[in-house]
Order: sequence, then C-alpha cells, then structure tokens
Amino acid sequence: MRKIKWGVIGAGGIADRRTLPGMMLAENAELIAVMEVNAELTEKLRVKYNAKRGYTSYEELLADPEIEAVYIASPVVCHKDQAIAAAKAGKHILLEKPAALTIADGEEILKAAKDAGVLIASGFMMRYHGYHQKVKEMIAAGEIGQVVSARAQLTCWYPEIPGAWRQDKSKSGGGALMDMGVHCIDLIEYILGSKTVMTCGFNDTRTFSYNVDDSSNILIKLENGVAAYVDSHFNIPDEAAFCRMEFYGTKGSILCEGTIGQVEGGEVRAVISDAGGYNAAQDRSTSGSFKVEAKLGNMYQKEIESFGRSVADGTPLTVPLEDAIHVQKVALAAYAASEEGKYCMVD
Ligand SMILES: NC(=O)c1ccc[n+]([C@@H]2O[C@H](COP(=O)([O-])OP(=O)(O)OC[C@H]3O[C@@H](n4cnc5c(N)ncnc54)[C@H](O)[C@@H]3O)[C@@H](O)[C@H]2O)c1
Repeated sequence: MRKIKWGVIGAGGIADRRTLPGMMLAENAELIAVMEVNAELTEKLRVKYNAKRGYTSYEELLADPEIEAVYIASPVVCHKDQAIAAAKAGKHILLEKPAALTIADGEEILKAAKDAGVLIASGFMMRYHGYHQKVKEMIAAGEIGQVVSARAQLTCWYPEIPGAWRQDKSKSGGGALMDMGVHCIDLIEYILGSKTVMTCGFNDTRTFSYNVDDSSNILIKLENGVAAYVDSHFNIPDEAAFCRMEFYGTKGSILCEGTIGQVEGGEVRAVISDAGGYNAAQDRSTSGSFKVEAKLGNMYQKEIESFGRSVADGTPLTVPLEDAIHVQKVALAAYAASEEGKYCMVD
C-alpha cells in the first residue's frame, strides 16, 4: 500500500493530542515534517513522532518537495492563508474545522484548491465513529421508520484563558456553536443524509466574559423535513455532560450517549417498536431498549487513512470541504437568527 507523505501545520494542539497519534496508526501514512511556531516545541514534536524534519514556518514546510499532503490544525484565523498557500504549493489538504473565519474565506480556499487540482477535506472526524456509521446504516434501512425528530449535544467547560484564540471572535469566528455545535450539525446532516435549510435559536454569553457564545441552543430544519435540536455549551462541567445524540422515528428511537467527542467510545441503545394501535393509557413499560453493537477504532486514524485513499486512488472524499462550508453557513445563520429574533434560511 502506498504511504501518503504528510506534513502537519500547527502540530502542537489537537494534532498532538489526537491526530498525530492517529496518523501513527494509519497504514497508508508517513509523517515527513511538523511545523510549529516555536523551535523548541517543533523539535519536541519532531522527535516524539519521528518526523524527518521540523519547521517553524509553514512556508518552509510547504516548500518541502517530499510532502504531498498537509494537515492544517492551526487556529482558525490562520486557516485561509495557510490553506491557500498549501494549494498553490500543490499539496493536498486536510483542513481542520471550521474552514475559515468567514464563508467568503472558505470559498476562496476551495477555489484555490480546485484551481490547483488538489484535494481538500474538512476535519469532521466524528463521521468515522463506528457507532455513527452504524446509526446511519440503521436509519437508512428504515429501522426506526420515518425520522421525525433529532438532537445532538456537545459541551465542555471552558473558562476564560488569557490570550486564548477561541475566546476572541476575530480569531475563531464564533464560540460554542462555531467550535463544537458544527460537529453536531454535521453529524445530524451526515447520518440523516439531508442538509439544513433553515434555523433559529439562542446564542448567548451567560457565564464567562469573553466575546463569543458560551451557550448555544438552536433548532435546524432539514430538507427532508426533520427538525433537530443542537445544544453546545462552554459552561457545563465535562463530567456533567452526556454529549447525547438522539433520533426518534415512527417505529423507534436511537440514543447515543458519549459518542460525540474525541474518543471513539460511548454507548448506543435503540428501541424498535411497531406502534400498532393507539394506546390511550400511553403505557411505556414494555418498550425495552437494546444495545447497538459496532466495531470501534480510532476516528483520527480512520480520517487520515480515508483522506490518504482519496489521494492515492481517487476514492471520493468522506468529508469534502464544501460540507464544512455549508455547516458554517448554518452556524452563521443561527447566530443571525438569534440576534434578529427570527428564523433564517440557509443558502
Ligand atoms: N476535529 C477535532 O477533534 C478538533 C478538536 C480540537 C480542535 N480542532 C480544530 O483544530 C484547530 C486548532 O485547534 P486546537 O484546539 O488544536 O488549538 P490549539 O491552540 O490547542 O493548538 C493550535 C496550535 O497551532 C499553533 N499555532 C499558532 N499559531 C500558528 C501559526 N500561525 N501557524 C501554525 N501553527 C500555529 C499553536 O502553537 C498550537 O500548538 C481549530 O481549527 C479547531 O477548531 C479540531
């Protein structure tokens, strides 16, 4: 199997926490170089992941002729310049979410990639979760009937940290919704195979003093008619959050608990029920749920392997950048809806 030769830009954050360990497990990846802003950290990461070279500027990494694909995991404010430069350097790109600060910037990145003839995918790695794939299959097979309602939740405790780029809208593009809610929107759309057409909701900063939302509760309406609730918070303690995803249909329901997150774990239970006649007493005592089984692994490894297959043999991308730009449009429409006190359409 051909190994794709990777470079990593912004290697010290989520790359070090999750994606580089996943890349080390990937059967079709070889790490050539890492880039960080600080020389000491660069060298530490180079040694840790046994990369051939370490760079302190992304321009130098992009000039490395051995590298054919880059993973960009720098703060959102850096994505536009780095992704466009990567495209111009002829590198295939796996770009962390959200694509960029604005839709216009995301579209500029996409155009640069298309003009250069390179592949570009987004880092919505939760699509690769074994349970999410299984739930998608169950729903597509009609196991819970017509889906009528859904919900996804992702939260973390994120107090004020001086200098944190995520807490400054000019560097992140948004708070809990833009950082975490986008995963939930993407998962609901991916699992149901339908895109959001309108949204409304509330996005507030209630607990902390930064200028992005720490509380986001939005409703999205999909093209297929399903309405789904997405809640994202920076102000719920980690141990108190269940990070639930729920799907309800005319023949049953599926409850995912703890599957949304950075570890491919959690549990999924389902109820399949032939509703039959109307039960005025609404007796729920017989509706036993069962545990759904799926093969689990490492989402980041699968993300790297999947992108590598697309580079090697043209397998269609699992998460094309277009999908991330669309999800960002949903998030921005939800912010506008909240500010204007109405629902907003998503183009
Ligand atoms: N898919 C996921 O699981 C996941 C999880 C967390 C973050 N993210 C995304 O990854 C990106 C980074 O987030 P993070 O949590 O790792 O942030 P972070 O602040 O923890 O890490 C970012 C890294 O980029 C480096 N950096 C800073 N300026 C840079 C520059 N100009 N060029 C290159 N590198 C630079 C920093 O030194 C730091 O090591 C964001 O887009 C975020 O939304 C994705």
